[in-house]
Amino acid sequence: QATSEVDLSAIAEGQAIKAVFRSQPLFVRHLTAKEIAEADAVDPSTLRDPQTLEQRTVDGKKQWLITMGVCTHLGCVPLGAGEGENRGEFGGYFCPCHGSAYDTAARIRKGPAPKNLQVPTYKYTSDTAILVG
Ligand code: FES
Repeated sequence: QATSEVDLSAIAEGQAIKAVFRSQPLFVRHLTAKEIAEADAVDPSTLRDPQTLEQRTVDGKKQWLITMGVCTHLGCVPLGAGEGENRGEFGGYFCPCHGSAYDTAARIRKGPAPKNLQVPTYKYTSDTAILVG
């Protein structure tokens, strides 16, 4: 399947889910106001892969963080998009394979991964649904 549709309406604030896009895990996360503030408090020029949360989300939809669930180091699936999973020291995602820690904008903050979790191409098909791909 070339595209994946994701219904956002059932994803509570603070929750992240795992979906599938082109046979790979896709993370869809409903950020809390606190998580957005944490991401915005970081000076992007200090980051390994400098990007703002704005640049990683759609205008006016900053609370919806859509990324691939594939660690940019060697491709493991990071934790943090499931019930009770370890989100790591920066509160985003944590890759248990070699200890890469991502922040609430899924930007790499610590460990061997070179890049932020990839944001796929997607668009909103309604206020509560996206089409990825
Ligand atoms: Fe994620 Fe190595 S594959 S840290």
